[in-house]
Amino acid sequence: MKTLILLFHPDFKNSTTNAALAEAARSVPGVEVVDMQALYPEGRLDVFQDGAVEAERLLSAGRIVLQFPVQWYSTPPLLKAWADAVLTRMFYVSYDTEGQRLEGTPIMVAATAGNVPEAYSPTGQNLIPLPDLLNPLRATAYRCRLPWAEPFLLYRAGKLSDTELADAAERYAQRLRGWSTEADAIAA
Ligand SMILES: Cc1cc2nc3c(=O)[nH]c(=O)nc-3n(C[C@H](O)[C@H](O)[C@H](O)COP(=O)(O)O)c2cc1C
Repeated sequence: MKTLILLFHPDFKNSTTNAALAEAARSVPGVEVVDMQALYPEGRLDVFQDGAVEAERLLSAGRIVLQFPVQWYSTPPLLKAWADAVLTRMFYVSYDTEGQRLEGTPIMVAATAGNVPEAYSPTGQNLIPLPDLLNPLRATAYRCRLPWAEPFLLYRAGKLSDTELADAAERYAQRLRGWSTEADAIAA
């Protein structure tokens, strides 16, 4: 089954880092990248119509990636709107027919951050390690019984040289390839 990447970027046309990662991901067989901001430019999803479409999208996937640039130590707002509509629908409104069926689907976060890794420490500018800032998403995954994969984190986004960015994109593609092979081996 495919790996579904939901890309949440508020300004994708001006993206360099997420654009490079998304392009590399698209080259991996069995990966589908969906630009959520293009689908929901107003930043809103309703539980019923949009929720039904997005629930089906998730249920068609074997693995899910949430990809986004870190903004103010958090996700872009559309990711929160997506969770509020889609996960609420699946796990509170239609649990038997939707949420329960999604359980067991592995989930990975792929996040890009402008700052350097050292900034994300008690002695750095941002105090809290980036993996810890992802805890609300990790708790969400735990609540929904979506096995949490090690996040793919890219620091210095926007400041990487062309070579560094190409290397990072290749690492991302390799990670996605390895993840689906590993999951297919477990399923076999
Ligand atoms: C509104 C806004 C808030 C941001 N907040 C953070 C932040 O909290 N931590 C950080 O490391 N970078 C922050 N950044 C930098 C972005 O994470 C960085 O520009 C992005 O990951 C680059 O990816 P892109 O080329 O795909 O846009 C912020 C950028 C914007 C526009």
